[in-house]
Amino acid sequence: MEEFLKIENQIKQDPFIEGPEETTEEVREELRKKVKEYYRTNDISEDLIEQFIIHNDQVEYFVDRFSEKEGFNEKEKEIALLTAIFHDITKGSEDFLNHGEGGGLITKEILIDMGISEELAESVKLGIERHMGQEGYPTDLAKKKYGDDFEYPKYATEVGKMVFECDILTQLTKKGFNKILLLREIDKENRKEDEVVAFEKNITREEAAVLSVLKSAKKSYDLIKNRFIKKCAEELYEEIKKEY
Ligand SMILES: [Fe+2]
Ligand SMILES: [Fe+2]
Repeated sequence: MEEFLKIENQIKQDPFIEGPEETTEEVREELRKKVKEYYRTNDISEDLIEQFIIHNDQVEYFVDRFSEKEGFNEKEKEIALLTAIFHDITKGSEDFLNHGEGGGLITKEILIDMGISEELAESVKLGIERHMGQEGYPTDLAKKKYGDDFEYPKYATEVGKMVFECDILTQLTKKGFNKILLLREIDKENRKEDEVVAFEKNITREEAAVLSVLKSAKKSYDLIKNRFIKKCAEELYEEIKKEY
């Protein structure tokens, strides 16, 4: 718990960096491979690794799509893309609730190893540490575990905000929505919750699960502030509401 709070109190702003891009598309392809290799060093199934990679690609796709629209310069876009590629690198390897902090550290090591500058590596690390969010899932879980006043380190820059919003935007895509439904289905506690709601509302457990995921999708939608990402979120949310 103290570990988490330390980050927030240390540095509020990303180091200000400018200058030419350091990474080409070829280098970024190498970096994506590094993430996959890292997943393979942990005891997780190839199926799960595939799921993680689909998610990372989706976040990166959104960052790429919205960076210029939301007014980013090339350097900001580079930091945001690298943050997207690495943001969930430790998701399968340690305490899930800690994967922002753990991911930031390991990413910085990998980037420096690959010859990326300290400044850029540090910016990416900060972005990853701050991608967990302040509301909704998994903050609710973290509050249960660490106490009601627990908070993840807040994003302090537009880059952090962009990656955070693109990450939650994936929950509003059909793929993301179905993944969360599946996760609910295999979680004992969630299933119990859905059974209670199903009984109260006289609906099936599956319908109760959809209602619950729709509610958290709405929560995610409400958290998005960037104009163009918001517009996209609105369209995706309307589609999901119609579909389920
Ligand atoms: Fe994450
Ligand atoms: Fe993510």
